[in-house]
Amino acid sequence: MLRKLLIGTALASGLAFAAHAADVKEVQMLHWWTSGGEAAALNVLKGDLAKEGYAWKDVPVAGGGGDAAMTALKAMVAAGNYPTASQMLGYTVLDYAAAGVMGDLTETAKKEGWDKSVPAALQKFSVYEGKWVAAPVNVHSVNWLWINKAVMDKIGGTEPKTFDDFVALLDKAKAAGVIPLALGGQNWQEATMFDSVVLSTGGPEFYKKAFNDLDDASLKSDTMKKSFDNLAKLVTYVDPNFSGRDWNLATAMVIKGDALVQVMGDWAKGEFHAANKTPGTDFLCYRFPGTDGSVIYNSDMFGMFNVPDDRKAAQIALATATLSKSFQSAFNVVKGSVPARTDVPDTDFDACGKKGIADLKAANEGGTLFGSLAQGYGAPPAVANAYKDVVSKFVHGQIKTSDEAVTELVKAIDDAK
Ligand code: BGC
Repeated sequence: MLRKLLIGTALASGLAFAAHAADVKEVQMLHWWTSGGEAAALNVLKGDLAKEGYAWKDVPVAGGGGDAAMTALKAMVAAGNYPTASQMLGYTVLDYAAAGVMGDLTETAKKEGWDKSVPAALQKFSVYEGKWVAAPVNVHSVNWLWINKAVMDKIGGTEPKTFDDFVALLDKAKAAGVIPLALGGQNWQEATMFDSVVLSTGGPEFYKKAFNDLDDASLKSDTMKKSFDNLAKLVTYVDPNFSGRDWNLATAMVIKGDALVQVMGDWAKGEFHAANKTPGTDFLCYRFPGTDGSVIYNSDMFGMFNVPDDRKAAQIALATATLSKSFQSAFNVVKGSVPARTDVPDTDFDACGKKGIADLKAANEGGTLFGSLAQGYGAPPAVANAYKDVVSKFVHGQIKTSDEAVTELVKAIDDAK
């Protein structure tokens, strides 16, 4: 669908901009980094580019997970109005590349040695038919718990190692009158949490088969049913006002001590960082119980469009800055993510960041690094959207039982494929 929509505009804009002009010293960037922590991280990039004389034209589209941003991007591209770059996740990059609207950064990549420093799991999405079409900014990981330390101490809790431990911990918070689980009732947040529940319930092989290979038997299995049972259990610990809540507001509940824990990708740590909170003292980061040793990842990529010639120098400057080692450290320290290069020292990262870097390395080497289905790295967008929809209907009671949820999931994914 995307291909049909875009192909005409690709040709049109190519012709329209054949003429040469003086380089435009401006970077136009579409993104959904609008929370406090995200904005602070983006400022690192704006600052680096300003030093090189590039103006920043911001195109922010609020909405965690990026669905609204991707709708806005589609409209811009369909109108032949390509940004210099757009924040994108996984399979979306490949979709736009297949539609023929992306630029080619291969020369820059060669010069900078990206093929040696960027992990293969990311190159799968930033290189299309041999050409670099996107610059990976970071690696996020979704299977984390973010816990308020003072609340944890107050209830006498310890790190939950299994799903049952987790339930026992949530019960303690409930008994103490604290909201046990901070959740934002938006489909992408619910599905992001469910990624972890499935990994915990079924183990690494199961997660991969179900959510990366879309293996029918796994999707239909009793283990998937059990995963929905576990999700239903978690939802009983959420406060009644959770519907529609933004993810960063859920994080704020934990930061303030109104809630014990949030299950969220490590962009949540960006919020703790922006609030000057320290891991070990103010908050705790643990892997989602039963998922230690595995990493469910996503990576923000700057998809690079086939912009007019007079905007290519700015695009190259953006891509080069993005993958520089110093930026990879400075940005990811603030963002909560870890570097998209394997050769960046962990010196400046806090304890959670150091663990994130070590976990990523171990998972990458041990074959337990898996793409997040909720975050665009498990399957193409149509499948991911179908998944988010079913999980959300289950969380909000429109799908009533785990049996029904499994049937709907299989059907929705089948239709979307
Ligand atoms: C992105 C993060 C972002 C989060 C919430 C995720 O899809 O990868 O960079 O912070 O959404 O907006």
